[in-house]
Amino acid sequence: MTKQNYHEEFYKQAEYYDIAFDFRDIPKECDFLEGECLKHMGCKPSSFLELCAGPTWHTIEFAKRGLKSTALDLSEHMVRYGLDKAAKQGAKINYIQGDMVDFKLSEPVDLVALLMDSATYLLDNDAVYRNFKCVAASLNKGGLYIIEIGHPKHHYEDWNAEHCKWTMERGGKKVTTTWGSQDDPFDPITQITETSVRLEYVDGDNKGEIVTHAPSRCFHANELMALVDASGCFELVTMYGSMSADIPFDNDKKAWRMIPVLRRV
Ligand SMILES: C[S@@+](CC[C@H](N)C(=O)[O-])C[C@H]1O[C@@H](n2cnc3c(N)ncnc32)[C@H](O)[C@@H]1O
Repeated sequence: MTKQNYHEEFYKQAEYYDIAFDFRDIPKECDFLEGECLKHMGCKPSSFLELCAGPTWHTIEFAKRGLKSTALDLSEHMVRYGLDKAAKQGAKINYIQGDMVDFKLSEPVDLVALLMDSATYLLDNDAVYRNFKCVAASLNKGGLYIIEIGHPKHHYEDWNAEHCKWTMERGGKKVTTTWGSQDDPFDPITQITETSVRLEYVDGDNKGEIVTHAPSRCFHANELMALVDASGCFELVTMYGSMSADIPFDNDKKAWRMIPVLRRV
């Protein structure tokens, strides 16, 4: 298993992560993912793999829709938390503790997703190719690999502290997350930022703060297209600017993500 630093101490707090990132409309995002399969595979998927799955929102939603649903994550804490969460919701999922650049499934699936900027942990091109190879080997021919990455325009914007700090509450637990800081060192050659993540929690009488630092790599659009081409595993079918088929990948305000839809060749 990789020894790469990936904000492990932060992800150990799986329940707090689950609260902090619970701001998405998961059924709508899964509709989008299924819709892309319908468009580009000609049918809805019958099986799904979520890489870097964390608390497994999408894995659980797809399991509830009847798909054979598998999650994979490096963090044993996330695996334990995700399995427990799925069981509480009556969703049957499979959760593998593993590395997104070095894994093998026993059976291929129709759809693989890597969401919420987790691709930033693919620190160099070799890691991207290793990930593409594992995913291609885990997909049925014609199957889709959909990746959610930050929009490249954000790399050129002035620092906006408000965008990086937010508070979420659930069941009397309050979690404030600060993702990144203006002072995080950035290497323009490797495109790697030593990204700081701060988690402040109030959980009954229990209050605390965890600060972690780990490298994360940013992607540009041309670079991503070249990597896809050179991999020989995938073709780029389309790109979106959000987890919605209505938002094209352009420089409009609404486009805040870069979502390549890749098809296994
Ligand atoms: C930003 S979270 C994303 C969680 C979830 N996909 C979501 O949509 O919120 C990143 C996750 O990636 C996991 N992770 C980081 N590096 C990984 C790797 N090399 N292989 C597998 N999982 C990894 C972390 O443990 C964490 O759960």
